[in-house]
Amino acid sequence: MGHTAGEDLEGKTVVYGVTGGIAAYKAPLVARGLKALGVDVHAVMTHAALHFVTPLVMRTLTGNEVHVEMFPETMGSSFEIDHISLADRADLFLVAPATADFIAKLACGMADDLLSCSILATRAPVLVCPSMNVNMLQNRVTQENLDRLKQRGFHVLEPTTGELACGWEGAGRLPEPGRIVQEVRMLMSEHDLSGIRVLITSGPTCEDIDPVRFITNRSTGKMGAALVEAACIRGARVKVVSGPVAVDYAPWAEITSVRSAREMLDAVKDCLGEVDVLIMAAAVADYTPHTYSTRKIKKGEKTAHIELTSTPDILATIRPFKESKVFVGFAAETDNLKTYAQDKMVRKGLDMIVANRVGDADSGFASDTNSGVILSPEGVMYDFENMGKDLLAHRILDLVKERL
Ligand SMILES: Cc1cc2nc3c(=O)[nH]c(=O)nc-3n(C[C@H](O)[C@H](O)[C@H](O)COP(=O)(O)O)c2cc1C
Repeated sequence: MGHTAGEDLEGKTVVYGVTGGIAAYKAPLVARGLKALGVDVHAVMTHAALHFVTPLVMRTLTGNEVHVEMFPETMGSSFEIDHISLADRADLFLVAPATADFIAKLACGMADDLLSCSILATRAPVLVCPSMNVNMLQNRVTQENLDRLKQRGFHVLEPTTGELACGWEGAGRLPEPGRIVQEVRMLMSEHDLSGIRVLITSGPTCEDIDPVRFITNRSTGKMGAALVEAACIRGARVKVVSGPVAVDYAPWAEITSVRSAREMLDAVKDCLGEVDVLIMAAAVADYTPHTYSTRKIKKGEKTAHIELTSTPDILATIRPFKESKVFVGFAAETDNLKTYAQDKMVRKGLDMIVANRVGDADSGFASDTNSGVILSPEGVMYDFENMGKDLLAHRILDLVKERL
């Protein structure tokens, strides 16, 4: 099994260009995030960047010499031409922040400093993260330069909108370091699920009693979010049908937000024709109030009764449309984990079921880790104990891949 989340960029090299924008203050955090993924980071700074962040910070965080000069005074012991060796060494070039000036240089193919020269000489993919005042960004010349870069195959991570350091409000903010690292990770990962269409359900459902109250469960969507991110990073086309959650899904996925089990069923039915894999990680309510009160139910007697009826069974409803699709279910149990999960898998005609232990602090709802077992009709596929949900997500996808 190939992937180990978090370590999948081990041994890869990013040449990290920092140019002279105010957002260069975020560069050390980007470098740190890349190092945490096992990436070998070599920073190249423009002269203007030196006004915003010191080479010492970048050297300390990357563990590598920082390159600035095209014509360094000392050449070191080996005779290497810096811009060529950097260009050849890179698995990816990252420029964050990329100034308007530097984007213009790239668009014209200029090579009058070490960073622009190295990028001109590389065959590696280049990710450019523009960051500047909103008027500089919206200036036609900057927009045309960015369009030219995109047409030539450069990857551009669009700036976000908000309060800018210059005092203006608008587009031009450098995305947060975690977002930049996430984009690098997606670009550098092996796209072994490329062309595969995956639908993932995630989070809880909420069954409304009246405009104030509802019935729900403890699902946070963390497992679903980990699956979405892992599938996107590996090149799959991912759709998500999610109940109300606070987690963020990977930016490349298409999200449909729903509230109740009924809405989740409808959304799943709508997407099902266009997918190869369905992963049902959502915790769908089993029961919903028999009637919904449009007015708030007033406090009255000591005991109150809400009549419940069962929600539609999503897997049973869509089973006739399974065809050659791979269906993966989840089971959350406090006891008899294997037996209950096995029974659910057979009853629902699943290809695989991920059985999670719930009720412990380190497994199941809200936790970052899970313990349990993955079963297929042939038997136990995988046992996991206190495993990070991101790593578990990759394991599940490895097993799905074997069944495609
Ligand atoms: C305080 C200050 C902040 C700046 N911030 C930005 C910025 O966020 N984005 C940008 O494109 N230029 C910014 N500039 C202008 C660049 O530093 C200038 O265009 C410089 O020539 C860029 O050089 P480089 O592209 O070689 O790094 C800023 C300048 C100053 C003095």
